[in-house]
Amino acid sequence: TSADKAGFKHYMLKEIYEQPAVTHAAFEDRIKDGLVDESAFGEQAAVIFDQVKQVQIIACGTSYHAGMIAKYWMEGLAGIPCHVEVASEYRYRPVVISEGTLFISISQSGETADTLAALRDVQDQILASLTICNVPASSLVRESDLNLMTNAGPEIGVASTKAFTTQLVGLLLTTLVLGRRFKLSQEKEREIVALLAQLPGLMEHAIKMDGSIEEMSQAFAEKNHSLFLGRGTLYPVAMEGALKLKEISYIHAEAYPAGELKHGPLALVDKDMPVVTVAPRNEMLDKLKANLQEVSARGGELFVFAGCSQEVQPGEGIHVLEMPEVPEVLEPIVYTVPLQLLSYHVAVLKGTDVDQPRNLAKSVTVE
Ligand code: G6P
Repeated sequence: TSADKAGFKHYMLKEIYEQPAVTHAAFEDRIKDGLVDESAFGEQAAVIFDQVKQVQIIACGTSYHAGMIAKYWMEGLAGIPCHVEVASEYRYRPVVISEGTLFISISQSGETADTLAALRDVQDQILASLTICNVPASSLVRESDLNLMTNAGPEIGVASTKAFTTQLVGLLLTTLVLGRRFKLSQEKEREIVALLAQLPGLMEHAIKMDGSIEEMSQAFAEKNHSLFLGRGTLYPVAMEGALKLKEISYIHAEAYPAGELKHGPLALVDKDMPVVTVAPRNEMLDKLKANLQEVSARGGELFVFAGCSQEVQPGEGIHVLEMPEVPEVLEPIVYTVPLQLLSYHVAVLKGTDVDQPRNLAKSVTVE
């Protein structure tokens, strides 16, 4: 009923707007004296975490994109060796599992058939299992040694939004508790925990871009193809943005790491293929700017999401959408929001069934 939608036209939009609150719920009870309280992961957490030598992440769909971002955090912030793979590949190939592997499954529903099968298959070869999940009574939670609930509340829209950003919060907390056993200093952990307090406000700020994104969506509604570019943790964010657009607006969208542009997709770019870029604030921005020039030189229309201190000049065919200044570690969480809004508004313009896209299911419990 429309009452469940709390006045919103679609569940998806309601769920996008819930993100300031639910990303807060994903960390608020897990912080003690400025550090992450690892007992939130389960009674055995400390004993298990002490023995972890590397991490294997398994997931499907949007949850897989969360896993890709976690890999950048685990290895980049904390020096934890981390592999990530989609469950449907992992479960059907012979795998080598090193000693001390913590198997992390990420799943909104906790019932995805491939993810569950992957866990069951490796059960006796791993150190332990942890699931980052949104449904407490689910199979993955029941069958994993440890769990961290994402606290997003029920997600109805088939296109996942708040489940993803809360998974990211959970994965960041996981990086911090494991990182203590690797290269992450307590000082750095305190610093990141303090930054987390800014997250709900930053999510709120990103949601306020709704009006300008609705305007931007008009440039996509009549197109058949689009390209999403990002670097670092924003590469998986670009993948997630492209997935959202495919899922609900039925526009072909492809994501590339910005550095790969010249190795293929540049040949496709013309005025009929809009390019969306999520620009990092770090040292790689200059390289990305060079890539952007290649696109605009070919008549491509560019939409750049960038922090206001970044010197990306709007110009002929280059639109700059100003983001709030975001601490680097929170970028993938905050930059996800405008891409969710973009896919939403394009779908509304096209008149598709936003909450129930054709051929897709909320939870894929059979193969
Ligand atoms: C389906 C849903 C996606 C979801 C994926 C994995 O494809 O439509 O939104 O990301 O399954 O689901 P899970 O519940 O395991 O996160």
